[in-house]
Amino acid sequence: MSSAYRSLRGCLSMMCLGLLFLLPAQAYEKLSDDTLRALPRPGRDFDIHNGALLSPILQTRVPGTAGHTAVLQHFVDFFQTTLPKWEIEFQNSTAKTPISKGKDVPFINFIATRDPPGARVGDVERLTLVAHYDSKLEPKGFIGAIDSAAPCAMIMHAMRSIDDALDRKWAAMKAQGIDPSLEEQRGIQVFFLDGEEAFKDWSTSDSLYGARAMAESWDHQMYPATSTFKTPLSAISLFVLLDLLGSKSPYIQSYYPTTHWAYQGLGTLEQRLRSMKLLKAGSGEPWFIDSSKDSHQIKPYGGIQDDHIPFLARGVEILHLIDFIPFKGFPPVWHTSKDDGEHLDMDTTEDWSVLVTAFAAEWMELEGYFDLLEHKLRDEGIEAEVVRLNKKTEL
Ligand SMILES: *[C@@H]1O[C@H](CO)[C@@H](O)[C@H](O)[C@H]1NC(C)=O
Ligand SMILES: [Zn+2]
Repeated sequence: MSSAYRSLRGCLSMMCLGLLFLLPAQAYEKLSDDTLRALPRPGRDFDIHNGALLSPILQTRVPGTAGHTAVLQHFVDFFQTTLPKWEIEFQNSTAKTPISKGKDVPFINFIATRDPPGARVGDVERLTLVAHYDSKLEPKGFIGAIDSAAPCAMIMHAMRSIDDALDRKWAAMKAQGIDPSLEEQRGIQVFFLDGEEAFKDWSTSDSLYGARAMAESWDHQMYPATSTFKTPLSAISLFVLLDLLGSKSPYIQSYYPTTHWAYQGLGTLEQRLRSMKLLKAGSGEPWFIDSSKDSHQIKPYGGIQDDHIPFLARGVEILHLIDFIPFKGFPPVWHTSKDDGEHLDMDTTEDWSVLVTAFAAEWMELEGYFDLLEHKLRDEGIEAEVVRLNKKTEL
């Protein structure tokens, strides 16, 4: 159980109600070194040719084409098979594009959500992990590995890696007589957004098709009147957008003072994982270059247009994880035919998935709920036992 819950219960019993109002809205609990060591790496599931998570996304997936449908189906299959407790929904829209000759093109946003058991809709805030899954029409055959096949796979791996710990945490709360539906108001969700890319030239009307439709629609869906939150949009506690990740030595700026503390959480995790030799990409420059600045010192260069924009415009808290060097730009493969599986830096791509796992685990306060035994057995080389334990969770 988190320290926040412990103090909340202590407070209630002592009737120290004044203190109740001081409880942080966003508790965030650090993972121990042992837990960091136990976090799984995606390993062969990120194999670009036949890995279960990443390889099915590494194909052209332009909205309205067969490749696009296949990738969407891959997400559905993954959640239905591996994460059956997650609720899947779609947010659909249509729009004309500069090349659709007056015809409507369908855009389908994929949403997967996991809330505490029994929680009332409208009372749960959700950490929201986001990447776009469509690919750019040109150059012909464009795969978009960093843009954003790899970010989608990183999120899938992270959600798979924390799912059992979520179960254990909520079961432990119940066992201690705490009703998770009343006292745990924290859930988690994934958006795989459609139509991020422009079909012709990037403009406010030719780009972000899925994100614009989604932000608009969720801003108008009202929760029941007595809910904590007004709309599903306002229930997003943090919108973490991953884009253009998977190249070597990423350069990640902090763009928003109000979410700088969350950025720093990631920066600290990066440092800890690096010093524990748990990052395969090794000892390069730090990725989270603004980590040691405080929130009013950050001066990010570049107003980058991306899927967060329609959400930002409606007041959603944003953490934008994008590899961008001021005056230099995005990674060299960006929007070229070189942005494919072969040009991913696999160590970096795997490291990202571990980092996202650790961040989600800290946000969801899962310290103490990971299965450290499995890791210990692996260390001791009891492979057969590990295989047996894994059988439940693997694809
Ligand atoms: C949205 O699109 C998906 C995928 O094509 C489809 O399965 C679903 O029924 C659609 N949902 C709505 C509400 O139209
Ligand atoms: Zn792109």
